Amino acid sequence: MNVDKIMVIGAGQMGSGIAQVCAQASFTVVLNDLKPEFVERGLVGIEKNLARQVSKERITEDEKAAILANITASTNLVDAGTVDLVIEAAVENMAIKASIFKELDEIAPAHAILASNTSSLPITEIAAATTRPEKVIGMHFMNPVPVMKLVEIIRGLATADEVYKTIEDITKKLNKVPVEVNDFPGFVANRILMPMINEAIYTLYEGVATKEAIDDVMKLGMNHPMGPLTLADFIGLDTCLYIMETLHEGFGDDKYRPCPLLRKYVKAGWLGKKSGRGFYEYA
Ligand code: CAA
Repeated sequence: MNVDKIMVIGAGQMGSGIAQVCAQASFTVVLNDLKPEFVERGLVGIEKNLARQVSKERITEDEKAAILANITASTNLVDAGTVDLVIEAAVENMAIKASIFKELDEIAPAHAILASNTSSLPITEIAAATTRPEKVIGMHFMNPVPVMKLVEIIRGLATADEVYKTIEDITKKLNKVPVEVNDFPGFVANRILMPMINEAIYTLYEGVATKEAIDDVMKLGMNHPMGPLTLADFIGLDTCLYIMETLHEGFGDDKYRPCPLLRKYVKAGWLGKKSGRGFYEYA
């Protein structure tokens, strides 16, 4: 399958990162969000990242301009009418994703692949909102997208081999490493990462150690680039809670029970770096 034009839905941190790496790999990119100011904010972030690469002499000013020229802004899903691939990175809510995929199914050309960057929602259920479940697949990028090498590629129950192969090839073109995963709650990344983060929160909750001590143990003792509480703030505590709830509900096992302290912080609006406060405070 030939893919030249990609629509990315959602111009937040993940969506704009995905749009950037696609544009850098010379794909034609349509960056879509609900409002022009959301798309604009995403484009400003991409421009800043590219400017940093220019200052480090990794790309030239001309290359930066060419990458930015590969991206056009959109606030209407009708623009999916001419694309070969859609990568959806909207909010983690099944009802919203199902409605986006239903609409895309009506608009996108018959050959187009519909991918979701969901971090834990079932691809098979998202696919069921369409009449082309064989062309629906998970493409789970890691944050920050321009830096992290992994893309978890999730096969839904009906995903066609040819579609998997196309997405694997595109991932390599994006200079990322594809890893094949089946459709179970949390896939692999978050099934392993989130219980570790949740356990770190329990460790704090039970007064075993201070937040700094917990992070130091994991950073210095296990060589993690960030301690688990710093990482939770970086990911967003609402996202962490949502993923833990998905694991808890999906497996029905109490070992995935979200820590009450995590719930409390989310209820307080302490969502981590993005809200200025989580386990740590951010200026
Ligand atoms: N966008 C683009 N580039 C970024 C960036 C961002 N948001 N943040 C950092 N970078 C770049 C920097 O420019 C720098 O680039 P160069 O090496 O080319 O100069 C490089 O990354 C390293 O950055 P720093 O020196 O500022 O800081 P660092 O060495 O501490 O690295 C980090 C920052 C890459 C974020 C590192 O701390 C890290 O790897 N943290 C863990 C990240 C992680 O685990 N991500 C997965 C989260 S889980 C997920 O995403 C899935 C999910 O579903 C929840």
